[in-house]
Amino acid sequence: MSEFNYKDGLLNAEGVSLAEIARQFGTPCYVYSRKAIEDSWLEFDTALKQQKHLVCYAVKANSNIGLLNILAKLGSGFDIVSIGEMERVLHAGGRPDKIVFSGVGKREDEMRAALKAGIKCFNVESINELVRLNDVAGEMHMHAPVSLRVNPDVDAKTHPYIATGLKENKFGIAFQNAIAAYEIASALPNITIKGIDCHIGSQITTLEPFKDALLKVLELIEQLKQLEITFEHIDLGGGLGITYENEVPPARRDYIQTILTTLNNTKLELIIEPGRSIVGNAGVLLTKVEYLNNSQDHNFAIVDAAMNDLIRPSLYDGWHNIKRVVEAATVEEELYDVVGPVCETGDFLGKNRSLPLEPGDLLAVCSAGAYGFSMASNYNSRPRVSEIMVDGNQVHEIRKRESTEDLMNGESLLPK
Ligand code: LLP
Repeated sequence: MSEFNYKDGLLNAEGVSLAEIARQFGTPCYVYSRKAIEDSWLEFDTALKQQKHLVCYAVKANSNIGLLNILAKLGSGFDIVSIGEMERVLHAGGRPDKIVFSGVGKREDEMRAALKAGIKCFNVESINELVRLNDVAGEMHMHAPVSLRVNPDVDAKTHPYIATGLKENKFGIAFQNAIAAYEIASALPNITIKGIDCHIGSQITTLEPFKDALLKVLELIEQLKQLEITFEHIDLGGGLGITYENEVPPARRDYIQTILTTLNNTKLELIIEPGRSIVGNAGVLLTKVEYLNNSQDHNFAIVDAAMNDLIRPSLYDGWHNIKRVVEAATVEEELYDVVGPVCETGDFLGKNRSLPLEPGDLLAVCSAGAYGFSMASNYNSRPRVSEIMVDGNQVHEIRKRESTEDLMNGESLLPK
C-alpha cells in the first residue's frame, strides 16, 4: 500500500498534500512517509518472529538522522559502510551492539572507532583486511567480532553496477578460498568468529538468487563444522527489489519465508540488511517545471531538480515514475523528456513521459526514497535540497536546504 495517493485531486504524502509541502518548504525537496518506512521494516521483523534475527537497515540507502531515528525507535539494527554512517546511527539513537560494518576498504582508524564503539560485527571482505583487523584489535587489547563475507558466485540478474555476488565483482572472499580464510581467522588471536556473510546485489526481483546463495552458504557452514569452526549468525545481506515501473518483486514476507524454509530450522541468528525495500517507495522527489522547451521533434520539460539531486536515471538508466501533483490539467498530454538544469546531456529524470505540462506545475519523481538524497552531490554548485518527513498530518523538516554559504564552507582564498 503506497502512502502517496491522490486526495481531492492532489497527490498526498499520508495526510498532507505535496502542494502544501512545496508551498511551505519550496522545491526541489525529498518527501518521505514515516508510515511507509515503519510498515516495511515491521513486515520484515514480523515475518521473522519465529527465528532469532536482526533486521539491519542498510544506512547507505538513506542516511538522514531523522529517518534513522524512526528505525532505531523500532529496535532496528544497522548495516554501515563507513564511520560517517556509524556516527549517524549513534547520533540517531541506534545501538552499537546492533551495528554490522560492511565494505571492502575499511581503514585502520575506522576499525579502531568501530571497536571502541562496541559494534556487533565486522563483515570482513578479504584476508588482508582480516590480518589488519587482528593487528588493530591486538593494539587495543580487544577481540574483533567477525563474519567473513563470502562471494557465492550467483547471478542476481540485476544492473551490472549493482550486482555484487559474481566472481568477477570486487566484493567478498572467493567461495573456493572461504575455508582457508576461516582457518586463518580462527588462528588469529584477536579475531572472534561470529558468523558468515554474503550480499549478492541490489534490486533483485526474483527469489532464486537468494535461495541459491543461501544454499551455498549452508553447504559451507557444514564443511566448516567438520573443522570445528562454528557460528552464531548468518548474514544474508540486502538486495530485495521494489517496483519502480512494472517489476513484480517478491513480497517481503515471501522473501523471508523462502529464506526460513531454506534455512530449515537452523538455530543460528539470521541477519538481513535491507535498504531499498525499506525506504525506496517511502519517498518522492518533489520538483517544479521551470520551462517547457518544445522543438520540432523533441519536447523538454526543464525542472528545478537535476542529476545531482537524483542520479539514478543518469547512472543506472533507472526508471522513476513521474506524476503530476495536481491531478487535473488544462493542457493536452505531450511526450516530454523531463530534464534538470545541469550542464550535461546525461542530466535527465525521465525520458519520453506522456504528461500534460505547463510551467509552474509540480511533479513528484516517485520511488526516490532509496539512493536518492544519499547519492546527491553539489555538482554545478547546486545546494542539496531539503528533506521532509510526513507523519500522519504532521510535517517535519528533517534536513534544511543547503545555502550557497554552506557550499563554500571550508574553502579559502590564497594569501596573495
Ligand atoms: N548490504 C550490503 C553489503 C550492500 O552492499 C548493500 C547495497 C545493501 C546491504 C543494501 O542493498 P539494498 O537492500 O538496498 O538493495 N546505488 C544503487 C544501489 C547500490 C547498492 C549497494 N549496496 C542504486 O541506486 O540502485
